[in-house]
Amino acid sequence: MDINSLTQPLQFNIVYLDVVTSTNTLARERLQVAKAVEGSVIFANEQTQGRGQLNSVWESNSGKNVLCSLVLTPVFLTIAQQTYLNMAICLAMLDTITMFIPCARIKWPNDIYINKKKVAGLLLENAIQGNQIKYSIVGIGINVNQLDFEFKSATSLSMETQNCMVVDDVFQLLLKHINQRYGMLKLKQWDMINKEYHQNLLGLNEEFTFKTETEEFVGVIKGVNVQGQLMVKKGDSIKNYRVKEISML
Ligand code: BTN
Repeated sequence: MDINSLTQPLQFNIVYLDVVTSTNTLARERLQVAKAVEGSVIFANEQTQGRGQLNSVWESNSGKNVLCSLVLTPVFLTIAQQTYLNMAICLAMLDTITMFIPCARIKWPNDIYINKKKVAGLLLENAIQGNQIKYSIVGIGINVNQLDFEFKSATSLSMETQNCMVVDDVFQLLLKHINQRYGMLKLKQWDMINKEYHQNLLGLNEEFTFKTETEEFVGVIKGVNVQGQLMVKKGDSIKNYRVKEISML
């Protein structure tokens, strides 16, 4: 990678659409027919098959929220470093949301919470080639103006501030923060990204009840390792868990 592409900000090419299945699915389809390059963004008012992590459904009423997918080609990251991309995008989401609600925090692995409620989520889909990330589809949902949710522990910026917002303003702020955080990644400021992610990690060094396939136990979150696993202390030992392996009750 030459020095220019390291220092150049992303040039966003935004396609605004009304109803789509899922912006992530559409971004992948466009990549396959070479209609998308780094910086391509799809924004939709509504998704009929919005997807979340672990095959969950992403709920969003039409025109109320930010629903977007951005294509990145972080070829400067190896597979072993992909956690830093996840952390950088979480920080960009947090940067955006804390402009309205300063107490927002990151909930592992990549949700943004306000108190005990989820305001935003990230679905990062990476395509790997050899030891590098060939491309990454960064799918982000931020609840902005929606006032009721089927998922009871969801909230929105509007519910928290009692103000209605311009969805596109929140979206533009998000893109600005992604550019800043992605710039840090390109400059290999991984320690800083890791540090800031942990400074804003919900429940760090706090006790929670966890559930795995085999047990329920009380443990303390000690951090997130470079593989993106949650490190939980139980008794005197620390164990690392992947997303599918543990949930916080
Ligand atoms: C999660 O918290 O489980 C991740 C949610 C990600 C939702 C966004 S909305 C835009 C993009 N398109 C999708 O289908 N999902 C992501």
